[in-house]
Amino acid sequence: MLKKWTLLVLTAILHLHCVRPLDNGLGRTPPMGWLSWERFRCNTDCKNDPDNCISENLFRTMADIVVNEGYANLGYEYINVDDCWLEKERNTYGELVPDRTRFPRGMKALADYVHSKGLKFGIYEDFGNYTCAGYPGIIGYLQQDAELFASWDVDYIKLDSCYAHPVEMDQGYADFGYYLNRTGRPMIFACSWPVYQIYAGMQPNYSSIVRICNLWRNFDDIQDSWASVESIIDYYGNNQDAIVPNAGPGHWNDPDMLIIGNFGLSYEQSKTQMAIWAILAAPLLMSVDLRTIRPEYKAILQNKKIIAVDQDPLGIQGRRIYKHKGIEIWSRPLTPLFQNYFSYAVAFVNRRTDGTPSDVAVTLKELGLTSPTGYRVEDLYEDVDYGILSPQTKIKVKVNPSGVVILRADVQPDFDRRLSYYSTTQKTVFDPLNQIFRVRNNNEF
Ligand code: GLA
Repeated sequence: MLKKWTLLVLTAILHLHCVRPLDNGLGRTPPMGWLSWERFRCNTDCKNDPDNCISENLFRTMADIVVNEGYANLGYEYINVDDCWLEKERNTYGELVPDRTRFPRGMKALADYVHSKGLKFGIYEDFGNYTCAGYPGIIGYLQQDAELFASWDVDYIKLDSCYAHPVEMDQGYADFGYYLNRTGRPMIFACSWPVYQIYAGMQPNYSSIVRICNLWRNFDDIQDSWASVESIIDYYGNNQDAIVPNAGPGHWNDPDMLIIGNFGLSYEQSKTQMAIWAILAAPLLMSVDLRTIRPEYKAILQNKKIIAVDQDPLGIQGRRIYKHKGIEIWSRPLTPLFQNYFSYAVAFVNRRTDGTPSDVAVTLKELGLTSPTGYRVEDLYEDVDYGILSPQTKIKVKVNPSGVVILRADVQPDFDRRLSYYSTTQKTVFDPLNQIFRVRNNNEF
């Protein structure tokens, strides 16, 4: 009898170990960096295309640019290898082997190089028999591979799920997370587990995903087109009630890479992707050729104010709060708070195709911004400071087709601060009768 109980308790303890939360302390704000897949895909032809093939040179070059051209200072810190870095076979010890001609110095050397630049290093694998591009997967080698990645000083692992059974993913991802933890090296764990289960008609168990993964893909791969970006925006808007509550410091929904600066998005559409990804508290993983990106696209990726929205410490994912006749309004609660009132980022998106900018006029109150102390409102792309506005103030924005206007509204702490702010702005006027600040009329001095 005693034996049976001891066995049961032991099994329970073992089981608890296997589903123990990842709790690696990482990703308190959404990870930022560069990832090869969307732009460079599985180009292994280093003979004919040495500058663009998946090789250590590509990642070293991108690491150099991330540092030299100011991306690192803004928070972009991970240099992530995606699929197609492996030899087709494990070695005689069962170890994964990086492609010998494309990564001649191996992954530890590449990680060392990336670390020498003050950056972090990420790698890609797949829970199943093969990666999506047909290289060896980790099934059957979970512990060994976790230890190998730790020995290479990897900081981030994206674990895909091609060639795997969706029903096995709950246990499989938990086990791999457990083995990652056991290495003692904190590594971001980026999962693809929910999206494959959704494809298979299953309901993902988000309460366990949130405890095991630092980020996870919910939906399709991003492609180089506005249609693809729109489909992702729609997915996150249409499913927000199920998705939004899962995001928070240490665990994020991942709508996939930023494709800004590539071939498929216009300037307006690129601004929209950046703004909506920030509202979604999304990981900001650029997949673009940083050697040739045009300055205006680089400026979007380097927009400090929008990055600050994405990286807000509260980590509350935003929502679509309005959708009518092609106009959408998205909003995200931010710091600072005053009493029970949040600050907000608000994005107005024009999904219409009728060629001329659309006017959107709305009061702050209608947007849910109701603090009687008012908000300091500014545009995050244009240099427009609306000054301090009361909840009753109506703001009017012009939104270009497939473009965005994104505002930030910081709740004001107290009356005195507002008064001193008032003296420095020309845009608002204090109305003593109603005790509010409002936008100055054209004929008012
Ligand atoms: C899947 C993933 C992509 C990319 C490819 C690589 O499609 O969703 O992000 O990693 O595999 O083959």
